[in-house]
Amino acid sequence: MSTTYRAVAWNPQKRRYDMVAGGLVLGFLVVFLGVQATLRPELTVETLLIRALAAGAFTLLNIILCIGPLARLNRRFLPLLYNRRHLGVMMFTLALAHGVFSIVQFHSAGTLNPLVSVLVGNARYTTISQIPFQPFGLAALTILFLMAATSHDFWLHNLTAPVWKTLHMGVYVAYALIVLHVIFGVLQGETSLLLAWTLGGGVLTVFTLHGLAARQEARLDREEESLRIDGFVDVCSVADIPEKRAVVRCLSGERVAVFRYDGQVSAISNVCQHQNGPLGEGRIVNGCVVCPWHGYEYLPDTGASPPPFTEKVPTFDVRVVAGRVLVHPQPHPPGTRVQPAMLDVARRA
Ligand code: HEM
Ligand code: FES
Repeated sequence: MSTTYRAVAWNPQKRRYDMVAGGLVLGFLVVFLGVQATLRPELTVETLLIRALAAGAFTLLNIILCIGPLARLNRRFLPLLYNRRHLGVMMFTLALAHGVFSIVQFHSAGTLNPLVSVLVGNARYTTISQIPFQPFGLAALTILFLMAATSHDFWLHNLTAPVWKTLHMGVYVAYALIVLHVIFGVLQGETSLLLAWTLGGGVLTVFTLHGLAARQEARLDREEESLRIDGFVDVCSVADIPEKRAVVRCLSGERVAVFRYDGQVSAISNVCQHQNGPLGEGRIVNGCVVCPWHGYEYLPDTGASPPPFTEKVPTFDVRVVAGRVLVHPQPHPPGTRVQPAMLDVARRA
């Protein structure tokens, strides 16, 4: 991985996105505080704030977890995916404020160290309603902290992509812990069913979207072995590939992105070297395949990033015969130039 690649650069679009997201979060907090203060006048300002920050963080976490599968199911959600990390940092900031505020409010007046007090306080396991819920929150916050602290690309390079990815899958563990935190905590004292329905609805939405996206991926991974000629697999017709875009097929267990551009067809691995983003969902801009997640670029015929960058992905032999696109499933080593298949003039139109 090159050290000079600045894929995640600030630009006016990202700033606009952050301002809109920040405004929506602020709006949520204000409305939540207003509604709660009206409906529950007995609650103190501190409790209202603790709850508003918690609700904001948890809502944001639900949204963040839905963005991945939504972008898989419909390309229109891709712009949300590019900036998911920013939402993650916002969510962590709210969760941290909620955790710190709770510790100061409920655990700082005694003789015990506040963190120890979170872990051992109210430990009564005789009834479900007495099970201490705050250690679940602390464990979740610790995981979210590790993720936020390593969110920068510096850590991705140093930890290596597989370790970084495994660490960041911890978000699902944190999510489960927060659900337990709410079930054993605030839900035990709630008389209205609204919170339970909201919690259940959120969890169901996250699960359903992940299930639908996984089913779609599995369909994509079913090998297209319909026709083989000289070892080449018939993947689609030329007309199936929109100009400067790709279709993705699974060949010999690897996803391959087959791009059509300027009267030519090239095939490269679908897996971006940055964070395994789906290159086949990107576009060709200025002659380069642009990864839809954070903008790493690759030349379609060599699979290599344009100089001075050094990222490379495997390439595949391609033929076009009678309007059908044939791809050889055997990959060439990353960065190997492969002659693009040329489309005849009649088919370019
Ligand atoms: C040190 C860590 C944490 C502590 C000590 C803690 C403490 C608390 C306390 C005391 C409450 C009950 C507030 C009340 O009913 O008045 C609460 C509720 C809640 N917490 Fe945490 N928490 C922690 C971490 C987290 C994290 C990381 C999240 C993730 C978003 C979270 C989400 C929630 C939610 C959604 C509620 C219910 C809020 C509502 O009433 O709508 N907590 N927490
Ligand atoms: S640029 Fe980040 S995954 Fe491709």
